[in-house]
Amino acid sequence: MANRDHTRLIHELTDEYTRRFPRSATLHNEAELRMIDGGNHLVRLMEPFPFRLGQSHGAYVCDVDDHKILDYWQGHMANILGHNPPQITQPLAEALQDGWGLQSGFADELQIEVARLIAERTGAERVRFTTSGTLCTMYAIMLCRSFTGRSEVLKIGGGWHGAQPWALKGISVKQGSYDHIESEGLPAHIDSETLVTRYNDVQALEDVFAKHGDRIACFIMEPWMGSGGSMPATPEYMRAARDLTRKYGAMLILDEVIAGFRFRAGNLGAMYGVQPDLTTMAKIIGGGMPVAAVAGRADILALCGRKNGEGRRVRFDGGTYSAHPLSLLASKLMIEYLVAHEDEVYPRIAAMGERLRKGIEKVFADRGILACCTGHPNSAVPGSSLASVHFPATNDLKLSCPDQVGNPALSDITLRETVMKLGLLVQDVNVSHGIGAVSMAHSDADIARTLEAVDHVAKRIASE
Ligand SMILES: Cc1ncc(COP(=O)(O)O)c(C=O)c1O
Repeated sequence: MANRDHTRLIHELTDEYTRRFPRSATLHNEAELRMIDGGNHLVRLMEPFPFRLGQSHGAYVCDVDDHKILDYWQGHMANILGHNPPQITQPLAEALQDGWGLQSGFADELQIEVARLIAERTGAERVRFTTSGTLCTMYAIMLCRSFTGRSEVLKIGGGWHGAQPWALKGISVKQGSYDHIESEGLPAHIDSETLVTRYNDVQALEDVFAKHGDRIACFIMEPWMGSGGSMPATPEYMRAARDLTRKYGAMLILDEVIAGFRFRAGNLGAMYGVQPDLTTMAKIIGGGMPVAAVAGRADILALCGRKNGEGRRVRFDGGTYSAHPLSLLASKLMIEYLVAHEDEVYPRIAAMGERLRKGIEKVFADRGILACCTGHPNSAVPGSSLASVHFPATNDLKLSCPDQVGNPALSDITLRETVMKLGLLVQDVNVSHGIGAVSMAHSDADIARTLEAVDHVAKRIASE
């Protein structure tokens, strides 16, 4: 199905969407007068304009045009209990009423409790907080470069670690390749210092280590590829990542900004039996608030400590709002809830994820359209609440790598990113990159409703 022309269908859907969301359309004109492109984050700024939110509860968000939209974006996949869950909002509201929560900038007991919880659930020796996934991957890389005295950073083509200098190469395919820098304004040497390899390709990993191994400071990878296509690392790949980094004296950073607490009440690396040198986490651990953490070996994290003399310190420092009290309260409540309800939460969202993925594949197959979902579990990860849908050109592709789903020559990206997005939104279902994440607030009825809506989109694609 790759490379078909969807202009007419997209035109129709854009018209329907514009008619359905008139107040958002008007507000977008105003937004563009004050903010570049009318907003602050590329993935939130869909074409022709984003719908603008009002209240949100559980699986649903309400917009300014009074729709109740079933949501699979769920706060960039952070809101595993749904939007504004009372388990978190009520204690936060009570704390604020009691005059506690915004007094940031001090040491407190809560920081110790949350660091202890994260360490216990991830096997980390030390934890340091910051405010975003982007910052924690940047600090983790700085720590590894200092620890090893090496400069090269290895990442995966299609891997997204936030917009920071060492992560702005190899995010998207251009002319069949990931080997390019994707931002202006970076230091000149960043291109040669950032190496890109292929996900789940053990041979490619061996080759890059054989060539650059003694210069690689760290290999940063997502054990579950998120925006690159929602797919797990194979157990063989994770083992190779650990073995090769050890063999060549490089550090292994598992970027679990999405994966942390998504598949179990702890890190995903543990499900593979792989202990990284550092783990980066954000999203779910914030309980809906901006909390991020670098967790891992004490000897590496010690490099940002005061006792690490002048000049040799890694300035993983500052952050007016780092370890912010109200945010850490949300973090503590979320982590404690997930630990206490681990046996209930993860099987439930995985079962709904399975129904959704299998249901979507069937809906498209029944309409004669070749579509496959990623997000399926594997032998290391028994269940998954994540899903994406792809439209490969041929059905001999076993999807395990971002280039298969990010390369327009191999997969119809317009169907996934534009037709699915608009086609579902005009039916009040919001998805991201095909689908997104199931939360505890979603119900079987929501999944059934989603499958009906997907069928409606499939029917329109089939009759294009
Ligand atoms: C795997 C991964 N790492 C890092 C980031 C950056 O996190 P943030 O958006 O909190 O800066 C993201 C964001 O989606 C992510 O998915």
